[in-house]
Amino acid sequence: MDQATLFEAIDEAITNVAEAEFRRLAEGMTRDELTNNVHRALASLRGLQDGIPPGYEDSWVPLLYLTWYQPGQIYYAHHMIHRMNQNRSGTPLIAEGSYRLHLVDFGCGSLAMQFAVTWAAAEALESGLTVKEIRIDSYDVATPMIRLGQALWDEFKRIITDDAQVSHLAMAVSSIRPRNSSPNRLFPYKAQMPGEERWLSALHTVYEDNLDAVRIDLAKMTNAFKPDIGLMSCFPNPTPIGLLEQASPFTGDSFLSAYAGPSYRTEASLPKVTRWRRDLDLKIDRHHFLEGNVPWYRHAFGLIYTPKG
Ligand SMILES: C[S@@+](CC[C@H](N)C(=O)[O-])C[C@H]1O[C@@H](n2cnc3c(N)ncnc32)[C@H](O)[C@@H]1O
Repeated sequence: MDQATLFEAIDEAITNVAEAEFRRLAEGMTRDELTNNVHRALASLRGLQDGIPPGYEDSWVPLLYLTWYQPGQIYYAHHMIHRMNQNRSGTPLIAEGSYRLHLVDFGCGSLAMQFAVTWAAAEALESGLTVKEIRIDSYDVATPMIRLGQALWDEFKRIITDDAQVSHLAMAVSSIRPRNSSPNRLFPYKAQMPGEERWLSALHTVYEDNLDAVRIDLAKMTNAFKPDIGLMSCFPNPTPIGLLEQASPFTGDSFLSAYAGPSYRTEASLPKVTRWRRDLDLKIDRHHFLEGNVPWYRHAFGLIYTPKG
């Protein structure tokens, strides 16, 4: 899958969704009010890289997350999928024959993992494999994050649907069956069917502040879902790997863990998102976080769990 083509669609989708959300939030606000909201959200999001979770319930935070972190998160989630596949030689990345994939994405945010799985499915289709249904059960405690992610997914679908150049991507999108999940109202997961593989992801979701809650909910979901593969990651806050390991539900003898990362850089550029942020900078008292090109270089740490033997 041509990365530039994919990120062109993501660039356009993020920009369109961000602009609509900005108009909704900014309606009737003075320049000072706008400045306060944007500066507060940017400062709060900066804390993420030091392991301090921002207040995602404040709708300005998901908006700035979408136009700052989201493209890099899609790239990193895709990197994790490929890195995971290196642990199991000979198994196709995402699909073959009767194989079905079922993913539970915990702390899904704005659906970065759903986009990454779709990207990997498009790659599989392009290499001649068939992709069956891919179920994705997403859960996040912050509804504004999911709401924006769903708007992004709908806009992305709209953009690629009529574009013959991205037919594999459109086919991949049509194989995705997304649902909203919750640890308190789990779907009744039956025993795995032959040819089914189950993944559980929790990307950049664990912090010191929420460690206990996440550990309990991940254990609950793992007991019910019984995943074959685990993907967990975080920013390089003070004790990244230790924190992930404490939250991890993949502690049995049957799992082999491997580290991914620690750093990544997407080759893609997002000129529309970059321009949107610079335009926003002109509407408020300026903030230097809005000046750079999106996305940019990041460090991250990941843990990947695959079955032993
Ligand atoms: C940095 S974002 C990452 C989102 C997404 N996984 C990604 O990679 O883009 C962290 C997400 O974890 C979610 N989160 C934090 N604590 C949580 C909890 N206890 N249960 C579920 N989600 C949680 C937040 O609401 C936020 O959307």
